[in-house]
Amino acid sequence: MQIVQDIATLRDIIGEVKKKGLSIGLVPTMGFLHEGHLSLMRAAKAENDFLVVSIFVNPLQFGQGEDYEEYPRDLARDQELAAAVGCDLIFAPPVKEMYPRGYATFVEVERLTTVLCGSSRPGHFRGVTTVVAKLFNLVSPTHAYFGQKDAQQAFVLQKMVEDLNMNLELVIRPTVREADGLAMSSRNKYLTSAQRKEATVLFKSLNKAAGEIEKGERDPEKLKEKIAQEISAARGARLEYIEIVDTSELRPVSTVAGSCLIAIAVKFDQTRLIDNIVVGV
Ligand code: PAF
Repeated sequence: MQIVQDIATLRDIIGEVKKKGLSIGLVPTMGFLHEGHLSLMRAAKAENDFLVVSIFVNPLQFGQGEDYEEYPRDLARDQELAAAVGCDLIFAPPVKEMYPRGYATFVEVERLTTVLCGSSRPGHFRGVTTVVAKLFNLVSPTHAYFGQKDAQQAFVLQKMVEDLNMNLELVIRPTVREADGLAMSSRNKYLTSAQRKEATVLFKSLNKAAGEIEKGERDPEKLKEKIAQEISAARGARLEYIEIVDTSELRPVSTVAGSCLIAIAVKFDQTRLIDNIVVGV
């Protein structure tokens, strides 16, 4: 496995891989790898000849007062984990390699980025789409892999790929969960042990809502109310949003019909957790 930190070397290697006609799978990450990332990597390895994993804590997608500085980093551990799943190349550039002095170009998807997480994290998705577009240009992957846990990110990136005619396929893989249902996230590390126990409320409340839908409930307001009640019963949990939206434009639905995304964000102190399920009726 090669570890590359500069764009010139990356370009040379990718050029050689392309010359051989090999397919490339890309798993973009911010490092501190967990089983969610590893499951994306295993899929990418199985479906492509050459696996590239990028590890870059992207300053552009963190707002003022967010956790850019504290975001967990452990490149040595990440290298071991990535090597064990058959990664061929890790791209781990320093910030100045991605955003040199005078950097001025950004990619922005409209509409889909102002709702859900976008309303409390202005500029976040602009940071994500900009860095991911750059990674796509650098790696020219055949397939790029993302988790369903970041459902809005997946929608936004799919829109970017379509709108900008990017020549690759996005693969969105199911959320990987801890045994008690908590969605895996590098940010789970911030939780105290008491918060960690309470954090199962995200997935539990989503499942309760799915159960109500199965029993026939179609009113999004009533479903949101149920979820809010569950969340408020968890010690230390502060609900940031619950939304029930359609899966094409992420617009709030007036009745649950067809395919809907139920997405929530909950804060435990400064730690912000998100989760979602897709329901189809
Ligand atoms: O999902 C993430 O970890 C990040 O948003 C991504 C896609 C690697 C872009 O920095």
